[in-house]
Amino acid sequence: MHAQVSPWYAHAAQRLAATDPAQVLAPPGRMEWSTHRGLGPGAEILGHCLSGKRLMELGCGPGHNAAHLAQRHQAHVTGIDLVGLQIQRARSHYGHIDGAAFAAGHALHHLQAASGSFDAIYSVFGAVGLTAPELLLAEVSRRLVPGGVLAFSVPHPARAGRHPVADDQPREDYVTMPDRTHMPIARWEFDAARWAAHLSRTGLRIDSAVELRHPLLDAWPTTLLITARKS
Ligand SMILES: C[S@@+](CC[C@H](N)C(=O)[O-])C[C@H]1O[C@@H](n2cnc3c(N)ncnc32)[C@H](O)[C@@H]1O
Repeated sequence: MHAQVSPWYAHAAQRLAATDPAQVLAPPGRMEWSTHRGLGPGAEILGHCLSGKRLMELGCGPGHNAAHLAQRHQAHVTGIDLVGLQIQRARSHYGHIDGAAFAAGHALHHLQAASGSFDAIYSVFGAVGLTAPELLLAEVSRRLVPGGVLAFSVPHPARAGRHPVADDQPREDYVTMPDRTHMPIARWEFDAARWAAHLSRTGLRIDSAVELRHPLLDAWPTTLLITARKS
């Protein structure tokens, strides 16, 4: 039998081999929703004053955005990631920052087990789009305060000439490893209308759906950024 390494674990292990995991870092000066620095909105879509607010990030990786929100906006942020190596990395980079906490595990389980509610929940190419939406969005909605915000960015479903799915099923995509090899994953590739339909079933209403495309580097929109609110 052939054991299959999780793509997200493999990605983190390769990245870790090439970086110093114990390095203390200063958080980035801006929240990023796409892979291009400075493109599109920043933290303001999570709310205009985040000081003292309770936030959760689903799929935080090494924690750059969570650290930014805690240090620059004085929010209380919990970053969750499936891969323990990413959480080790996040803690060693940003564990010293007040208001930033990191925990390993599945986003769905953390939402189910969390105590209290959150003012905003967000995902940057993280668990939203990688986990069955009918399960994840229902838990997100249950954990948000009334008026609370869900914001998430996903790879644009029409990137590089693709087409959004015509049903609610995931399709095969791949993760590009630091060494440029690829590993397959399942991804829910919805357009904004399909996300709106799924969100509304759980009591969330879309405020905005923005397509991000670098004007010089991208021939197609690369990122879909959705902001929704709990009614
Ligand atoms: C493309 S990376 C993005 C990381 C980070 N948000 C960033 O922008 O740097 C996707 C991350 O989501 C995590 N992930 C995937 N599925 C998850 C799940 N169900 N629960 C928690 N984390 C998940 C992966 O382990 C990986 O670290």
